[in-house]
Amino acid sequence: MQHTLALFQQIVTQLLKDEQDRPVANFIPSNNLFETLDLSLQEKPALEENFVKSLSELVLTSPRTATQAFFNQLFGGRNEKAILGDLLAVILNNSMYTYKAAGPQVGVEKAVLEKVCELMGWGRESAGTIAPGGSMTNFMAMLMARDSKDASVRKTGVSRKMTVYTSTESHYSIPKNAAFSGIGRSQVRYIPVDERGRMVSIELENRILKDLAEGYLPTLINATAGTTVLGAFDAIPELVALGKKYGVWVHVDGAYCGAVLFSKKYKPLVKGVEAVDSFSFNAHKMIGTPLTCSLLLVKDKNKLFHSFANEADYLYQTDEDEFNPGKTSLQCGRRNDALKFWTLWKSVGTEGLEQIVDKQFELAEVARSYIENHPDYILYSFKDSISVCFNYKGIPARELCTQLYEKSKLLVGYGAFGNNEFIRLVTINVQNEPEDILNFFKVIETFVAENELLLAAKTE
Ligand SMILES: Cc1ncc(COP(=O)(O)O)c(C=O)c1O
Repeated sequence: MQHTLALFQQIVTQLLKDEQDRPVANFIPSNNLFETLDLSLQEKPALEENFVKSLSELVLTSPRTATQAFFNQLFGGRNEKAILGDLLAVILNNSMYTYKAAGPQVGVEKAVLEKVCELMGWGRESAGTIAPGGSMTNFMAMLMARDSKDASVRKTGVSRKMTVYTSTESHYSIPKNAAFSGIGRSQVRYIPVDERGRMVSIELENRILKDLAEGYLPTLINATAGTTVLGAFDAIPELVALGKKYGVWVHVDGAYCGAVLFSKKYKPLVKGVEAVDSFSFNAHKMIGTPLTCSLLLVKDKNKLFHSFANEADYLYQTDEDEFNPGKTSLQCGRRNDALKFWTLWKSVGTEGLEQIVDKQFELAEVARSYIENHPDYILYSFKDSISVCFNYKGIPARELCTQLYEKSKLLVGYGAFGNNEFIRLVTINVQNEPEDILNFFKVIETFVAENELLLAAKTE
């Protein structure tokens, strides 16, 4: 093991050094991948030196998600304390289904979940769990909504026409989960949004009424705290009021920006959250832990047990249910994703998490004001969002993003809202400073100046 750990350190040291010189790994076209790297597997063991060479090359050519040139998705950066926790979770390799197999690690998960429930304004009747990503925590919420609407589903399957309400700007996991849950993709109602990407509650109510009149069972209202493209926050109190009026489960998908819970300044963006039935957020997004760490909090913990508990004599042999988190989990064997969040939280305190959240909004403000003060840019996103959407010199966003990627300059993505397609800069990496954000624009401007002809030719 010591030898392997030394090798790990050697490769990581090499990576960290290389990242400083080259924040973007050299682009490898997917159709050349297997000729460029030795990824082949043989019958016989690899020679140690070949093994190390292949592994180092793989590490050094993989996309660099922790540098000041990665803005592509809704995660980025590298938090050392969280990494320490995650590395230890791998070494310990506990499985989180039982206290017998995970011991104090169950306490770590409970401590994290209970503290978040407290921040939600919930007491001991609430509980939570951790799943591999926001798509899965949304799925769990949908299953609980389904089972709450019709308790017989667990036994006999879906037999009634259930409906799910979500905004046109919400994440694609909602229709996907509707298919998984037996509710069905066609029973997802996409509710229009206002000019800032927030669900329009009157449209929601009209649609619920229409469905009731047609004999459907309105089952889940999914609000989004931080829509994937614009970073918009649906107005929770209005949706909760409709949920109560029509007896519909309200879930908040806060995968992207639900972590505003940790910030006194930005928590008002999820005002009313204490009244929802369930809430999820990804610590691997705004909080900056390694992937994946997605938390699901449920106001009434009985709902978690009702939808996810299953007897298994071979597994649950000691301790009460509260200490056997397999009873409230989507999975059986489950890695410990709580430890990385706990090590970070323990080391920086709730105040430190608040600073992590606030800094992202500060960096977004830097980006927005740069764009607003520069005549070659058009801004498409709004205040109180860490998605900064823009176009530069009218160049089609997908063209510019793809060329920046293929020329190994920057990793940034594009998105659309209404009729506009734009570049989406996400200021989620708190290792970045304002100068890194300004440098992002400088890289684009220099690239365009040097490649104007090329871009013009491609976009014609
Ligand atoms: C609003 C929203 N919900 C859910 C998800 C899915 O999260 P995950 O990628 O962890 O499955 C995302 C991912 O970007 C998201 O933006």
